[in-house]
Amino acid sequence: MNLNILVLPGDGIGTEVTREAIRVLRHVTDKYHHSVKLTEGLLGGIAIHKTGSPFPPATVELAVKADATLLGAVGLPEFDEAPPEKRPERGLLGIRKAMGVFANLRPVRAYKSLLDSSPLKNDLVEGTDMIIVRELTGGIYYGTPRGISGQGPDTRAVNTMTYTRAEIERVTHMAFHLARGRKKKVTSVDKSNVLENSQLWRQVVVEVAREYPDVTLDHILVDNCAMQLILNPKRFDVVLTENMFGDILSDEAAVLAGSIGMLPSASIGERKSSGVWVGLYEPVHGSAPDIAGQNKANPLGAIMSVAAMLEYSFGLKKEAEAVGVAVEAVLATGRVTADLHPTGAPATTEQVGEAVCAGI
Ligand code: IPM
Ligand code: MG
Repeated sequence: MNLNILVLPGDGIGTEVTREAIRVLRHVTDKYHHSVKLTEGLLGGIAIHKTGSPFPPATVELAVKADATLLGAVGLPEFDEAPPEKRPERGLLGIRKAMGVFANLRPVRAYKSLLDSSPLKNDLVEGTDMIIVRELTGGIYYGTPRGISGQGPDTRAVNTMTYTRAEIERVTHMAFHLARGRKKKVTSVDKSNVLENSQLWRQVVVEVAREYPDVTLDHILVDNCAMQLILNPKRFDVVLTENMFGDILSDEAAVLAGSIGMLPSASIGERKSSGVWVGLYEPVHGSAPDIAGQNKANPLGAIMSVAAMLEYSFGLKKEAEAVGVAVEAVLATGRVTADLHPTGAPATTEQVGEAVCAGI
């Protein structure tokens, strides 16, 4: 197979973890006799520095031409005070929207060898295996009107949480489809005791669920969900939620996996004109400027994002599994980065990438 991939390393530790993810990608595709064509593009803070824009038009063109896109992370502290359109994050939101990747899949697993890495009690965490399906191209992240206006004590800031029935339907279908290949349970998260937006969300989810009688559906309010993720994480299989709730809950759920550095993600959408599925793959963690450039960052979230790409964008299940098995083997040896609190000396980003390759 010929894999035509766009790589957007982005900012901070994005470049380091992407380097290891590519090392693993090259290794596994060599081994299984596929050829890979990589193109590199600019996104986020580095794109602002080089072109003045966090999401240059050239990057959109490259993303449209590629079969799949691998992203590192975006965000640099020097832009903390910049207006929204001049912030690196705008690049990330821009590419998600431009690619139309409406469903962000964030699997959260508690690996046996990492139980001690979580601050939570082992018996509580053990057996956790869920996937958060976060709506990614709608809701309050994109809704209008938005902005800050007025002056003095009358200064007003507005954001709008908006969803259409169609937007809720398509991501709900994705969640139910995934549940069929798992434990057949969908938990929809909303705030329907307060928000009209959530009332529509719940209504549409109930309607779509009728098409999947073999899948169990329950509903949970987002505040209670935040608590249940820690009290009883095993109750969750597929967690379906809107954009901002999903953003918040997935960082919380990362505690179950031992470190946010462990979490991969796959963002999937359908290219309108051709009906082809498109995918954007990125670790859930951010650019972590405090440890950038030190060869300390955990590359496993990025490496598992490559595994997700192989599976979802290219249908290469065996190859994806080979990466997953190698990652588990590396975890079992305890040669992991500092975020996972190894008992011995922490491994470097590069050493972890090399160890995964050696295990494939
Ligand atoms: C994430 C990140 C992004 C988001 C930021 C960097 C814009 O937190 O992917 O979870 O909020 O979606
Ligand atoms: Mg986030």
